[in-house]
Amino acid sequence: MNNTKIYTIASADEGSAQLAEAAEILRRGGLVVFPTETVYGLGGNATDSEAAQKIYAAKGRPSDNPLIIHIAYPEDAADYAEISPLYLRLAEAFMPGPLTVILPKKDTIPHSVTGGLDSVAVRCPAHPIAHALIAAAGIPIAAPSANLSGKPSPTCAAHVIEDLSGRVDVIIDGGNCDIGLESTILKIDGDHPVLLRPGGITLEQLEAVCGPVEVAAAVIGQLAPGERPLSPGMMYRHYAPSTPLTLVRGERGAVTAYLAARQAEGCGILCYAEDAELLSPERCIILGHRDSPEEQAHHLFTALRDADALNAPHLYAPMPEESGMGLALCNRMLRAAAHTVIEL
Ligand code: TXA
Ligand code: MG
Repeated sequence: MNNTKIYTIASADEGSAQLAEAAEILRRGGLVVFPTETVYGLGGNATDSEAAQKIYAAKGRPSDNPLIIHIAYPEDAADYAEISPLYLRLAEAFMPGPLTVILPKKDTIPHSVTGGLDSVAVRCPAHPIAHALIAAAGIPIAAPSANLSGKPSPTCAAHVIEDLSGRVDVIIDGGNCDIGLESTILKIDGDHPVLLRPGGITLEQLEAVCGPVEVAAAVIGQLAPGERPLSPGMMYRHYAPSTPLTLVRGERGAVTAYLAARQAEGCGILCYAEDAELLSPERCIILGHRDSPEEQAHHLFTALRDADALNAPHLYAPMPEESGMGLALCNRMLRAAAHTVIEL
């Protein structure tokens, strides 16, 4: 698979011939990377064990970490999972969109796709190119984020090419992903919802539809050694730059002063646009405006990929607020920082 084809397409309509080719490659058991509104996905036929093995191999991912299956229409979930009234309410409110729901699996999905679990994660992406590709393929598409295991998820084709060139059949370049963090993952056991991974659909939005939602301990907390999380992916080191990262929590002025002092010592800084003028532009990456966790989310994974190029001995970043999209930012940043937080 050394000659990965790259299809650059501006829209699903303009790229319809290339999408038809990519759909055929998926049906024949090949691997196609495609853009979604969250991050790029590394897709293969979700009903084919061999395609699943190829996905794990291309990513360098342990095969006990289950894959999300992507469908063109929310109602398609019934072919692969036991759906419930709560699933239908969530689908009505948030699909297509950045929500993944974990449901009891049907036999149409092999255990090799679900890491041996009897549940399956289902998502119906809103990105028009993703939708058109899945609909054209006519099969469910298993797709983890299209990064090498351990690296931040890719939010543009350049990140994908860096990680997976030569390891997949096709990369569809559809530009930058809007949201920039992976989908929200909600497990529903009967009518009991548990948030496993925060993302583009916030906890507050979910609770408006489902009532109280349990938040899995691993979302913000650190697992005890040997403890197994509800979502296997939460076990693995994630999103980490090679340079160690420390988060700083405290009152705004104190945090900025702390960041400035570390920067003067030669450390790299991730910061808010408003604070940049108090810092030197050297060794400084701006995440976005302070009051826009959406903008920060959009830039976070690029910032984590770029951070190593600062050639700093250590990185520091402010700890975000935990509300709204901030919860998803906290989750990703805590894991990038291996839970190293300084309280001022
Ligand atoms: O936004 C997204 O969700 C992207 C795009 C491509 O759709 N996909 C993505 O997939 O982030 P991945 O594989 O990188 O993350 C999926 C997470 C993993 O942590 C995995 O352990 C968890 O979902 N997961 C999948 N199936 C599960 C299941 N049946 N039970 C518990 N956790 C599951
Ligand atoms: Mg991933």
